[in-house]
Amino acid sequence: MKSDSLPRQLHEENRRSWNAATEAHNSHKPDQAGFLRDRGHTLFPEEIELLGDLRGKKILHLQCNSGQDSLSLAKLGATVAGVDISDTAIAFAKQLSLDSGIPGKFVRADVFDWLDDAILKTDQYDIVFSSYGAICWLSDIYRWADCIAKILIPNGKLVLMEFHPYMMLFEEDWSLKYDYFPDGKCMHWDDGIGDYVALAGSALSPMGQLEGVKDFKNTTPCNEWMWNIQDILQSSIQAGLIIRLFKEYPYSNGAKLLDGMIEKPGRRMYPPAYLPAMPLMFGMVAQKPE
Ligand SMILES: C[S@@+](CC[C@H](N)C(=O)[O-])C[C@H]1O[C@@H](n2cnc3c(N)ncnc32)[C@H](O)[C@@H]1O
Repeated sequence: MKSDSLPRQLHEENRRSWNAATEAHNSHKPDQAGFLRDRGHTLFPEEIELLGDLRGKKILHLQCNSGQDSLSLAKLGATVAGVDISDTAIAFAKQLSLDSGIPGKFVRADVFDWLDDAILKTDQYDIVFSSYGAICWLSDIYRWADCIAKILIPNGKLVLMEFHPYMMLFEEDWSLKYDYFPDGKCMHWDDGIGDYVALAGSALSPMGQLEGVKDFKNTTPCNEWMWNIQDILQSSIQAGLIIRLFKEYPYSNGAKLLDGMIEKPGRRMYPPAYLPAMPLMFGMVAQKPE
């Protein structure tokens, strides 16, 4: 393990927590290889719109988990490399690539280590993509953006599709609890990453549903870092990227993260009817200058 200012022991605890959660999540998804090979993909239209034409593009998918979205990007014509800290997720992704026959290169690594190595090797990508529950696991979003800027080709772009920091103000019952100006504060959760795939039903499992693991309890704690819109924009700006697009959505895709969320067409989750419209998801495209 490298010695630097990052809280590596907390990243490692997250790795173990994600290993346990990933096994539970995949237990609910039947025949993923057959689905990807013959029937569809797992991306939402919102990220497809921001990614643009992927044919012939070299794309890096950061925090790719089990590779379903990565292989979906490959189906749309990209050459894909996926990176994730979870052993279970990367083992699953490699097998999914073999079983589906869709090519993808998957590496198990801490994202910060992987980016440092890529910079040393002068690896370059057309697009860096990350989505849906990724930035809360970054202990330093400024370092992350800086590294990404270094591995993009001129005119290359960072595409981020994420749950909105505004949603992170709320407890599960929608009571206001958390600070909007957390300044990268670390939150430790004794309950590890939960089984949000079981809670979401078909919304996170377009290939169908299996009962799978029942009443999953994750006994490995996890640690999240809170970044607000200022951090998200400013980290890319400070890294020298130009914000080309920033979009907010009044729904979140797939996951029913808070109580009573209402599913509407497109697997979009809205707040319960007694609440006003609010931003639950955002998309960003940040481009490296020529
Ligand atoms: C909510 S998942 C992202 C899901 C992803 N959008 C997908 O395509 O399925 C968050 C991922 O971040 C990974 N992760 C957390 N900390 C990490 C780190 N320091 N380095 C690399 N991956 C990390 C976890 O293992 C997990 O797979």
